[in-house]
Amino acid sequence: MVAPYTAEPSTDFQDAKNIEAFENALTYVASELGKDYPLIIGGERITTTDKITSVNPAKHDEVIGTVSKATQNHVDQAMEEAERAFKKWSAWDPGARANVLFRAAAITRRRKHEISAWIVYELGKPWKEADGEVSEAIDFMEYYGRQMIQYKDGVDVKNRPIENNQFTYLPMGVGVTVSPWNFPYAILAGTTVGPMVAGNTILLKPASLTPITGFKFIEILEEAGMPPGVVNFLPGSGGEIGDYLVEHPKTHFVNFTGSKEVGISIYEKAAKVQPGQNFLKKTAIEMGGKDTIIVDREADLDLAAESIVQSAFGFSGQKCASCSRVVAHEDVYDTVLEKVRILTEELTVGVPESVDIYMGPVCDVGAFDKISNYLEVGKQESRLVFGGTSDKEKGYFIKPTIFADADPESRIMQEEIFGPVVAFTKGTSIDELIDIANNTDYGLTGSIISNNRTNLEKARKEFHVGNLYFNRGCTAAIVGYHPFGGFKLSGTDSKAGGPGYILHFMEPKTVSEQF
Ligand code: NAD
Ligand code: ALA
Repeated sequence: MVAPYTAEPSTDFQDAKNIEAFENALTYVASELGKDYPLIIGGERITTTDKITSVNPAKHDEVIGTVSKATQNHVDQAMEEAERAFKKWSAWDPGARANVLFRAAAITRRRKHEISAWIVYELGKPWKEADGEVSEAIDFMEYYGRQMIQYKDGVDVKNRPIENNQFTYLPMGVGVTVSPWNFPYAILAGTTVGPMVAGNTILLKPASLTPITGFKFIEILEEAGMPPGVVNFLPGSGGEIGDYLVEHPKTHFVNFTGSKEVGISIYEKAAKVQPGQNFLKKTAIEMGGKDTIIVDREADLDLAAESIVQSAFGFSGQKCASCSRVVAHEDVYDTVLEKVRILTEELTVGVPESVDIYMGPVCDVGAFDKISNYLEVGKQESRLVFGGTSDKEKGYFIKPTIFADADPESRIMQEEIFGPVVAFTKGTSIDELIDIANNTDYGLTGSIISNNRTNLEKARKEFHVGNLYFNRGCTAAIVGYHPFGGFKLSGTDSKAGGPGYILHFMEPKTVSEQF
């Protein structure tokens, strides 16, 4: 029997010993920068001449390393290896497959600060956020491992005196995982090990901004006993190998997390049955958000301000769950806006070299330019209250920015900015607050800060998001506690870290025997 699942605690950075240990990990990783990393296909290391160069967005002249770039031929090669590996891996005892995850979780736990340090360097993520991310990866492994054990003998269905019925879940075959840069360890790990522990084998394409953190994870899976070919590591461009992976006739499922544009295109491409393909592909497609915090008239306004600042500016607003819209009741609007401004003024922005840095850079020059453009759009569409400036001389830094009096239909209230930008608008009744909150194409997360039970219950029914929170911020879902995924164009709502997640990557089978 495995111990019951509990979430991995965060590191206590009040403790000087932990600060020192984290600093030591940063020093160690600094000594490892600049190396070259291969593809991994069937356990073999393959080096190509064409490379992806990974840089630190907080100091863009610092190279984290280079990584080989997979071609379509490598995808074919990996597909063969993964098909070969599937025959054995799918026949493993499910509990033994789970043990690989439990051991990978234990190794990650032992190397927690080192993995966090890679994330700090490769993505500019502040310490506490990086530490939380590594905890989340451990949680995914512990949680999905137990889920496989729970489902290993299937689920009971009814029997009759002369009839025995069995309902079990089978792995599907080779699948593709495509992961984003913003959680280069946790989302990459979770979206890989979920289908993997279910008995499938995987072609994994990490995001091109953060492949080295991904490589570290594959090394840990190997150390934990994952056989060759079970997960194949294929960094490469979305255009060159992304579509090819998705459209490959031997791909049985696609587990994607990323933007709405790419997600929709994958959803369409995966739906087409290719020559030689005699099954339908399954897809789990988790996309963006435009997440709202409602502040009701009867509400703790200090709690509202803290929740907004943390949800809008944590990791520079680069979470799908980040709060980018506040809809406040007109009676409290000015007060909550001022409280948010005061808290935002205190935020520290810079290279995350110490635990005190609250906000690091944004991820790359593309994000920097896109967000800088939204700062100008916001200035035209609404009233700038704080921030509104950016600086890319050494790293890609954007000041936390607050806009007020935005029209709910305006671009800054409708489009995913994916940066440290939050816009405020007001409403006159709970119905209007919820209507405005719901008026986007997305439906990922949302919060309501209210002391009015009737209004909370109304929001429970009418605020249409996959993850709704009462009297707290709209980020920081915990595996097993807050299953995560969105409605509408936020995705297929596969609920990462939720009950039944691994069943998205399995085929249920009924066997009925008459005696
Ligand atoms: P992205 O869509 O640009 O890229 C995601 C991944 O898809 C990357 O690995 C990329 O290389 C790959 N890709 C690009 N084109 C492809 C193609 N044609 N075929 C196959 N793969 C392709 O997203 P991103 O910038 O890495 O991540 C940010 C986005 O992800 C935001 O929109 C954010 O909201 C979303 N996100 C959603 C969740 C969630 O759980 N809903 C979690 C994290 C991030
Ligand atoms: N799952 C992450 C959160 O809830 C994105 O913040």
